[in-house]
Amino acid sequence: MSVSCDARFFPAELKASAETLAKPAAEALYAIRDGSCAGGEWTGWFDWPRKSGERLAADIKEYIGKLDVYYDLVLVIGIGGSYLGTRAVSEALSHSYGIALGKAGRHARRPAIVYAGHHLSEAGLVELLDLLEERQPIVNVISKSGTTTEPAVAFRVVRHYMEKRFGKAESSRRIIATTDKSKGALRRLAEEAHYKTFDVPDDVGGRFSVLTAVGLVPLALATLDIERLVSGADEIFRALREGDPGDHPALRYAALRTAAYRSGKKIELLATGEPRLQYLIEWWKQLFGESEGKDGKGLFTAGLNYTTDLHSLGQYVQDGERILLETFLEVEQPGGEGGAGVERRIRVPHLQGDADGLGYLEQRFLGEVNAAALLGTRLAHADGGVPCLQLGVPRLDERTIGQLIAFFETACGVSGALLGVNPYDQPGVEAYKKNLFGLLGKPGFEDLGATLRRRL
Ligand code: PA5
Repeated sequence: MSVSCDARFFPAELKASAETLAKPAAEALYAIRDGSCAGGEWTGWFDWPRKSGERLAADIKEYIGKLDVYYDLVLVIGIGGSYLGTRAVSEALSHSYGIALGKAGRHARRPAIVYAGHHLSEAGLVELLDLLEERQPIVNVISKSGTTTEPAVAFRVVRHYMEKRFGKAESSRRIIATTDKSKGALRRLAEEAHYKTFDVPDDVGGRFSVLTAVGLVPLALATLDIERLVSGADEIFRALREGDPGDHPALRYAALRTAAYRSGKKIELLATGEPRLQYLIEWWKQLFGESEGKDGKGLFTAGLNYTTDLHSLGQYVQDGERILLETFLEVEQPGGEGGAGVERRIRVPHLQGDADGLGYLEQRFLGEVNAAALLGTRLAHADGGVPCLQLGVPRLDERTIGQLIAFFETACGVSGALLGVNPYDQPGVEAYKKNLFGLLGKPGFEDLGATLRRRL
């Protein structure tokens, strides 16, 4: 059981062109495996579960088992790769209304994870503080560089709040910092305040870091099964780490999307019929967008939630500019979260008189209706000139999400190599950061600030 890649609705000429990329894709994988690719010093994510992830997951579980504070809410402060992976996993596997459900009894839920430091909205932070006030929070501040403005500002505010509410000593037990092992402002702050710290490995970039402490600590705090997540990822890496990967679906996906790009497609849409996968799509958008969008190249990555978006952007996909490639992310048995072995399914009920005309759907599962809508969409979009791919997993659990993470990370590394870029840097992100510093008067950026203001 693994991630499947189905190219039935991909044009024959693009499939043929992807086949010619099979050898370069395999060579790209070998270069990732031995670190000889562009940005090879950042390929620690490959085979991470076996190298360090499994041991780390066990250590984190042990640490959390010994925590001496009660908490019912996990606050993650971070941006980009420092929060998106956690959110992708957590939202895919937690009850969508977990935060609104009771804390005890039949509806007892795991501690919810909430997020800060991924925007600069004052109103957003005010509301978050309202929520903290109602709960017993534990805070995980995450920044590899330790100097990113958004999480640094949010952490200052949250730290101030925590110290006022709990006092310095208890706050120190309620704050965990995940950052570079030796440098950066967050490392210094954490050491001064005696926070528990976890390291972001030197050889893993932010958007590839979900299986390191960056994702594993908050996910374990929220009682998700991080060992299964890591071992699910290892199942994919195991098939890729030795010998000939053959026609592995991750390499196939990389080759197919590359063939579409070379044929003139500019945008890849990742579409799902499961709202709980929305943040997996956000994580995928960053993974591929930030890795490949450079040197004037790369597919722009965007996400669609079906069937919702069939009533908004569906028209464009069907009939607008033919610059799109569409990848459907499908779950065979999406089910509901939890349920302790109890089947949680919905059949379309009987309606006396059939006034809404839905009698033909009576007693059929809603999942069947959703699957038909997605298949119908795939056929329609393929007929409309959009090359369509389908990636699939049998169900959503820690194991399959771990598999998807390893699948997409590998596909991204290979695809970036086929594109001829270094997928592990992000020079383009610096431009806005410098302008922000200039406009806010950060020491050292005064001249840039003056230049920018003259343009206003
Ligand atoms: O993928 C990346 O490297 C980025 O998205 C970073 O994760 C993001 O900019 C946050 O950086 P940091 O963890 O240093 O605060």
